Amino acid sequence: MDLKREIDINKVPTHVAIIMDGNGRWAKQRGKDRIYGHKEGANSVKAVIKAALEINIKYLTLYAFSIENWQRPKQEVDALFNLLIQAIEQESSFLVENNIRFMHIGIKQGLSMDILDALKRVEQMTNKNDKLNLIIALNYGSRIEIIEAVKKIALDIKNGELILDDINENIFSEYLFTKNIPDPDLLIRTSGEIRISNFLLWQLSYTELYFTPTLWPDFRERDFYEAIIEYQRRERRFGKISEQL
Ligand code: IPE
Ligand code: IPE
Ligand code: MG
Repeated sequence: MDLKREIDINKVPTHVAIIMDGNGRWAKQRGKDRIYGHKEGANSVKAVIKAALEINIKYLTLYAFSIENWQRPKQEVDALFNLLIQAIEQESSFLVENNIRFMHIGIKQGLSMDILDALKRVEQMTNKNDKLNLIIALNYGSRIEIIEAVKKIALDIKNGELILDDINENIFSEYLFTKNIPDPDLLIRTSGEIRISNFLLWQLSYTELYFTPTLWPDFRERDFYEAIIEYQRRERRFGKISEQL
């Protein structure tokens, strides 16, 4: 059965964000090293990007590494970053060919020159593309993002570039890493964990949440389309009642 045909193409979410979780457990179930799960997870990333292109999603945000993830064993962190650099380098031509704009959100502090250069290069290479915006949350934390925004706002006020009474939700959003990116319509988290893990706390305030027990390396096109179909069954009321919509 072709699941894609069940999707109403006129009502696809503009922005889908994903907490890609469960790589370690996937590997452990197979008696393998956690890194093996991260490698297979990279194949899911590619599959989901292709699926998003197929149904005209405009923004896809993938949570690849949280600030909290630095607390993992060094060997795992190093392997993860090697995989990330490799994937970014190898897939840059795929991004160009498919008119995908690549963007990084997160803090630079703590990232090696290698990764910073790779991110910058691919961002520049793809900055005119407009079919799909692919946002990688790497070295990302939502609370630090909000604190950084507050600091920048304070500085702008001090320098006379911003007036206190002008601050509103729209202005505040412009100080976040996600400036110019619409809030997610749908958040998917794999692996059965029902939590947000310091991801897009401000931006998710009216996002539809979708949790699936599927582990990230098993999450492919079909699973992505299932999430979209479930999203299309929801009624987003934004505080109103059904009759007003
Ligand atoms: C998600 O899988 C990938 C990252 C957080 C980088 P995990 O590595 O968290 O896998 P589990 O949750 O331990 O199974
Ligand atoms: C969240 O997954 C971060 C990423 C997917 C990159 P974790 O596996 O780190 O989340 P917790 O620590 O279990 O909440
Ligand atoms: Mg995890």
